[in-house]
Amino acid sequence: MFYEYHLRDKALLPHDPFKALIAPRPVGWVSTMNRAGEINLAPYSFFNAFSGAPPLIGFSSDGVKDSLTFAEETREFVWNLATWDLRGQMSDTSAPLPRGQSEFIHAGLEMAPSKLVAPPRVKASPAQLECKVTEIIHLKNMDGGYSDNRLVLGQVIGVWIDDSYIENGIVQVTRMKPLARCGYQDYTVLDDVFQMRRPAGAGNASGGG
Ligand SMILES: Cc1cc2nc3c(=O)[nH]c(=O)nc-3n(C[C@H](O)[C@H](O)[C@H](O)COP(=O)(O)O)c2cc1C
Repeated sequence: MFYEYHLRDKALLPHDPFKALIAPRPVGWVSTMNRAGEINLAPYSFFNAFSGAPPLIGFSSDGVKDSLTFAEETREFVWNLATWDLRGQMSDTSAPLPRGQSEFIHAGLEMAPSKLVAPPRVKASPAQLECKVTEIIHLKNMDGGYSDNRLVLGQVIGVWIDDSYIENGIVQVTRMKPLARCGYQDYTVLDDVFQMRRPAGAGNASGGG
C-alpha cells in the first residue's frame, strides 16, 4: 500500500506505523540536573548518535518535559545504557512524576556520581556517556511552523564502561543486552550481531555510521 501520511486509513491501520517502521530505536535513558540541584531520569526513544567527530548524541522531547528543561538550564546530561535487566526500572522512570521528585528513587535505582558533569549516572547500567549540550533545536514542520518537539544535542565528554564487558579491547555489547524501542508496545534486545565489510574504497567505519 501507499498513503499520504496525513491520509492514513484508520480502519486498516488504527495505529500510526511510523515508529514501528523506524525500529529498533536505541533508548536514550537520560539523567539531568537543574540549577536547584533536582535530579531527573527519563527514557527517550527519539534518540540516537548523529556524529562521530565530535561525538554527538541527542534526544527529542515531545513537549516541554523536565529532561529538556533541566538540560537547557545546566547544559549537561548523561546517557545511561538501558538493558534487558533494567527494563522494568527504565519503564518506571517514564512515569509523569511531579518536578523535583526523583525517578531514581521512584524506580529504586541507585545513583553513581559522574566525573565531568553534575547529573548522576544509573549505577546498575553497564555504560554511560557524560555530555555537554551543544544546541537545542526547536523542530519545525515543512511549512516552517514550530512543532512541540525540541531536539537536545550534546557532545560526549566522558565515557563509562563496566570493565567486565571488555574482552581483548572490544566491548561485548551483546552481553550488556541493550534494550531498543520498536513501535506499538514493542521492544527488542540487542543480543546478536554479524559482521559485514564495507566495499573496497569506502573508507573505514570512522567515515560513516
Ligand atoms: C521507551 C520509552 C521511550 C520514550 N521516548 C520518548 C521520546 O522520544 N520523547 C518524549 O517526549 N517522550 C518519550 N517517552 C516518554 C517520556 O519518558 C515521559 O514523558 C517522561 O515522563 C518524561 O520525563 P521528564 O519530564 O522527567 O523528562 C518515552 C517513554 C518510554 C517508556
